[in-house]
Amino acid sequence: MARVNEHYLKLNAGYLFPEIGRRVRAFAAANPSAKVIRLGIGDVTRPLPPAVLSAFHDAVSELGDEKTFMGYGPEQGYDFLIDTLIEKAYAPLGVRLNRAEIFISDGSKCDTANILDIFALDNKVAIADPVYPVYNDTNVMIGRSGPVDERGYYQGIVYLPCTEANGFFPDVPKEKVDIVYLCSPNNPTGTVATKAQLKGWVDYALANDAVIFFDAAYEAFITEPVYPRSIFEIDGAKRCAVEFRSFSKTAGFTGVRCALTVVPEEVTAKAPAGERVALNKLWNRRQSTKFNGVSYPVQRAAAAVYSDEGWRQTKAIVDYYMENAKIIREGLAGAGLTVHGGVNAPYIWLKTPGGISSWDFFDRLLTECHVVGTPGSGFGPSGEGFFRLSAFGNRDNVVEAVERIRRNLR
Ligand code: MLT
Repeated sequence: MARVNEHYLKLNAGYLFPEIGRRVRAFAAANPSAKVIRLGIGDVTRPLPPAVLSAFHDAVSELGDEKTFMGYGPEQGYDFLIDTLIEKAYAPLGVRLNRAEIFISDGSKCDTANILDIFALDNKVAIADPVYPVYNDTNVMIGRSGPVDERGYYQGIVYLPCTEANGFFPDVPKEKVDIVYLCSPNNPTGTVATKAQLKGWVDYALANDAVIFFDAAYEAFITEPVYPRSIFEIDGAKRCAVEFRSFSKTAGFTGVRCALTVVPEEVTAKAPAGERVALNKLWNRRQSTKFNGVSYPVQRAAAAVYSDEGWRQTKAIVDYYMENAKIIREGLAGAGLTVHGGVNAPYIWLKTPGGISSWDFFDRLLTECHVVGTPGSGFGPSGEGFFRLSAFGNRDNVVEAVERIRRNLR
């Protein structure tokens, strides 16, 4: 008799974004004349930068010619992209990496989930609350937790509350954990960690023999250079951290799919007999077996992001989204809401007015303003009473959404 993975049955609801999509579709079907503005899921709206598109086209054409055609690429990614990242993305930060430490993939969502393959089930995992739901749900799916309690916490996972009181950055726990997920600039709160805050976690990880999973998918949106873009800017991080980065939001690749994971050769964890094993070796083994790499044209397009022209165009798109963030932040603060984030991240995290619940505010905005956002409680119990708006919309829609919300709050 075939049996299912029982751990999936512990998950208490559908994945957050499809659930929001379902509610929005139901509303739109019942109200066909409503012009619904979607600032919920962080999906980009600007087209690919022209230099990126042109490299993409050229690479597709190469596949149409016998002399330049290629089949399987390296599972870890092509050297031309890896070398570009070493030189253009990391060297300017003072971070030196070698080719074997960068793995190209089809997304950070997948990588942050798949990396769990190489860790023992009895590791103690800590995640922020609120958090990008993938970190929580994939640990539940793999069997690292017990059932969920009435507050929404899964037994066995350590939750690190991120509240106004701690500036939405998790304090290191008193107890010992083995793996911790950090995300900066943060999804969902839109806040960004300082070097000192990350140093606190690196020191903790080194002292407790823990590994940090650092999700830097939004690093391109840091506008104040004082903030670190990579955990490897922190001394000691190469001995305890794995970093995830993505082209999705940076360069409009949410539909194209390209990301990278950096697993430094120095990061190790313990085998059952006590010897140290390099995570890089295990991740390479995992990827070589379960993944056949990202397509050649996509990797050419990704490398073009870092060409002079490509970078100028990419940066202009990032600036466009950050201007949206400013419009949302200032427009809603001006209407009396308490807003966080939106300065070094494309998300605005606002306190719901009058203390109403996150889902009640979601319903109010959807039915009265025809604006979609994401309820803070969908990211974890500590997100209750908060609401996330994404800055990835097009300008006219963003301006109109802010205007509609302001009118509604009057
Ligand atoms: C979000 O809205 O949180 C993101 O778009 C989700 C993702 O990147 O997978």
